[in-house]
Amino acid sequence: MPAASRRAMWWLVSLATAAVVAVAVGVAVTRIADDGTVRAGGDSGPSSMAPAPSPSVCPAPTPASGLRALATPCGIGVGAALNDTLFSDQTYREVAAREFNRITPESVLKWSTIEPRPGEFNFGPGDAYVAFAEENGQRVHGHTLVWHYVPQWVTDASRSRDELREVLRRHVQRTVAHWRGRIASWDVVNEPLGDDADLYDNVWLRTLGPDYIADAFRWAREADPDAVLFINDFDIEGINAKSDRLYHLVRTLRAQGVPIDGVGFQTHVAKMTLPDTFEANLRRFADLGVRVAITELDVRMPLPVTQQRLERQAAIYARVLRACLRLPACDAVTMWGFTDAHSWINREFPGQGAPLPFDDAYRRKPAYWALHDTLAAAAADTPRRR
Ligand code: G3I
Repeated sequence: MPAASRRAMWWLVSLATAAVVAVAVGVAVTRIADDGTVRAGGDSGPSSMAPAPSPSVCPAPTPASGLRALATPCGIGVGAALNDTLFSDQTYREVAAREFNRITPESVLKWSTIEPRPGEFNFGPGDAYVAFAEENGQRVHGHTLVWHYVPQWVTDASRSRDELREVLRRHVQRTVAHWRGRIASWDVVNEPLGDDADLYDNVWLRTLGPDYIADAFRWAREADPDAVLFINDFDIEGINAKSDRLYHLVRTLRAQGVPIDGVGFQTHVAKMTLPDTFEANLRRFADLGVRVAITELDVRMPLPVTQQRLERQAAIYARVLRACLRLPACDAVTMWGFTDAHSWINREFPGQGAPLPFDDAYRRKPAYWALHDTLAAAAADTPRRR
């Protein structure tokens, strides 16, 4: 059946289904999406069945327009981490441009690319990503200025405290200044906490002490006063010892005037389970007066992929997005990649995979439709978030 007829059929089925479901509750339906994928109900709550938003609020959703066409008018960022496939695969590039209103370069803004040798700065790879984003009207989130993954030259040399502090200042300020006004936000410090919920024992803590965190934020602010500065970590998605420690760290540093503007929750969902306290945890950080963002969302599943696992994954994607939509302080939901073909999960977690909303052939999965329907419902319910 030609694509146009399939799409027409999809819309007829959708409208008919929406009408039927207006009286029924929690009906999971399966529809044929415009690219031929089977669109399971996923999160088959009201959001999956909301009528198309009225044009006066947000444009009517059309699958070809992508997630960003729904997200942008509703005041929320929807993004993805991108890797160098962007420059070798036209489909990857087209999907990245069509679906997202922000991007995070997955690796090229990290220290090993930016400053591979002392004082030698390599901004070229990052420039290519920023150019792509500017060509496509997308914001760029910089990841990341300070982390424990650094080239050996940083850790090998036996530098004095002052010498290492100058190495750190130069890296942060040269990097942020290079993209001043073009990279809208930064993960200034990534993963400052360890699994023991205390400060992670990295080269910065060992040599500079805990003040390295405050220094990094102050230097970043000096280099670009308009950039939104985040602290970013994982396993802090629920209320637990690690998120408690981060909560108190952010509250203390902000009370000292340290310019921490936002907290990034990586949200690498394991065991297909999101903590029950996810929404309350986001809210308590927002109540500190900071922005919050979901910065690296993926939901891995045991292989082989099954329809049940796909729908459970879809419900988790929808829940994360809904939590952000309902919290004015939440800037964005960014996924760590967007196609199963390119995910760190494939390398790091044998026997698990399929973590993202597009499969490895760039077909939309139920998780995609769950995001799409959640945005469409938000567009219908709440004209525009702050
Ligand atoms: O670019 C080089 C290439 O030239 C070389 O041939 C190849 C040899 O292995 O390595 C390539 O660099 C790799 C880089 O990804 C780019 O693909 C590094 O080895 C590899 O370690 C690096 O892994 C990244 C990892 O962070 C460490 O930077 C992953 O792709 C990336 O998904 C992962 O992302 C992290 C976030 O930054 C922080 N939160 C957790 C998340 C997952 O670990």
